[in-house]
Amino acid sequence: MAREGTRQAIKGVIKWDISNDDQIPADLPQADCILSLFLLDVISKDKDAFQNNLKKLTSQLKPEGHLILFTALNMTFYKVDGEKFFILPLDEQFVKQAVINAGLVIEKVNVLPSKNNCDLIDFDAILHIRACMKTF
Ligand SMILES: C[S@@+](CC[C@H](N)C(=O)[O-])C[C@H]1O[C@@H](n2cnc3c(N)ncnc32)[C@H](O)[C@@H]1O
Repeated sequence: MAREGTRQAIKGVIKWDISNDDQIPADLPQADCILSLFLLDVISKDKDAFQNNLKKLTSQLKPEGHLILFTALNMTFYKVDGEKFFILPLDEQFVKQAVINAGLVIEKVNVLPSKNNCDLIDFDAILHIRACMKTF
């Protein structure tokens, strides 16, 4: 039921390659809220790229709009079918500063330590940040 409700709420899908320096899709509206789950640490090859990608993402927020960010902390890889994929390792202070540098005010931070102990993925914790786009 919850999944059906989510499907019905989706008004459209717009493709946007954030790491590409081309223009943001013209049909992408400014948003009240941007939810980013395990995206920026997957697509960013280094910390500068993470900062740039975060700024591009949050440039789509309306004034007073909110960013809800989830990212893994100190994660370096995950494995699928025995193949190892790179993840940019990040610490909490870096991510918080990157959010501030993007022009947002942090309202809430949660750190959920990993209870996972397997060789398919390595991370210490999940970091959740709620932040608001400044208007001044
Ligand atoms: C680890 S998945 C996370 C997906 C989803 N947010 C979730 O929590 O299940 C990473 C996502 O990043 C997307 N992705 C990879 N490179 C991208 C890029 N350059 N620009 C935008 N999205 C990208 C992939 O399509 C994939 O859906």
